[in-house]
Amino acid sequence: MLRGLNLILAADVPEDPPWRADFFREYLAVTLPDERRVCWVATDGDDLLGYASILLVGDIAVLELLVRPDARRAGVGTALLATAAKRADAEGYGSIGVEVVGGTPALDFFEAQGFRCAFIEMRNLLDLSAVDWPQLATLAGGVGSGYRLECHPDGPPEPILEEYAKAKATMRLNPAYDLELRPSSYDSERLRASLATLRARGLKPYVVLAVHEQSGTVAGLTEVVVPAQRPTRADQYDTVVVRTHRGYGLGRALKARMLSELRGAEPQLLDVQTWNAVGAEAMGRINDELGFKPNRQWREYEVDVDEVLRRLDAVA
Ligand SMILES: CC(C)(COP(=O)(O)OP(=O)(O)OC[C@H]1O[C@@H](n2cnc3c(N)ncnc32)[C@H](O)[C@@H]1OP(=O)(O)O)[C@@H](O)C(=O)NCCC(=O)NCCS
Repeated sequence: MLRGLNLILAADVPEDPPWRADFFREYLAVTLPDERRVCWVATDGDDLLGYASILLVGDIAVLELLVRPDARRAGVGTALLATAAKRADAEGYGSIGVEVVGGTPALDFFEAQGFRCAFIEMRNLLDLSAVDWPQLATLAGGVGSGYRLECHPDGPPEPILEEYAKAKATMRLNPAYDLELRPSSYDSERLRASLATLRARGLKPYVVLAVHEQSGTVAGLTEVVVPAQRPTRADQYDTVVVRTHRGYGLGRALKARMLSELRGAEPQLLDVQTWNAVGAEAMGRINDELGFKPNRQWREYEVDVDEVLRRLDAVA
């Protein structure tokens, strides 16, 4: 499975680091308590040709579909999709969503299967060897008076979870609808479960908080995860500045401080990736300043399960 995944990455997204075996099983198997993942493999004797999974979350089945490059265009992807769609239907799910990497054959595949593009994000990459660290330290220090930044390796500590969830709930700078399993939860109970799930999947969370000193409230936060499966590339998740605390340089300072912390704590890191909704101006500007470069589109496609089943029946 891991070998197959790395062949696919090398063929389709060669700028991405190969995955390691560390926590790979947990990454595939662990979900939030109220979610379920169902997986299938397509094999030829002992050889793995393809893999599909659906994550049953809320009212949508989130699909992952992978076919080894040397086994493509032979109907394996279609067969796996048919199996997954039937299961989604049997579980009572009416739609399927999938995240597709721009510039790869999967776009043609899903368009051929009747999926519609619902949302486009841009993936940005920051090459850490190109960062001007002294300038970054200046940006990190640029918080308005009355605020302080706090770094929490291993995620937000238990006593502030309530406050933290509240800050997340107010508003996100990057409100992208997201299919990934992320700690995007806005109450402390769910946030706690999300953090436990992240850790169990081998994804190490880091958080930097901006604290409003007078009230002691969380004015802003930024989250990064370092995956055990590819520890040279970190994922920048949400950055939130609570509306009443905007305009004090917190967004930029939070992200800059995070990068400085990561440099010390995770010396193996080579780059950081982040996703922005096309048109998310404020965040885009901060990312430019920090040195993030647009890399590829990430497209979310959706389809009604009925529609997939109808089409597959028609060609069968
Ligand atoms: C997307 C993917 C799963 C398709 O698997 P596959 O086994 O090649 O798909 P199929 O053979 O069933 O293709 C069905 C149809 O899709 C379309 N299609 C698939 N690949 C295509 C390509 N490279 N160019 C144009 N059309 C394509 C064609 O209409 C094809 O029918 P045809 O071969 O009769 O013309 C495979 O390319 C893949 O693993 N990609 C990388 C992983 C990925 O990005 N997955 C999606 C996100 S999780």
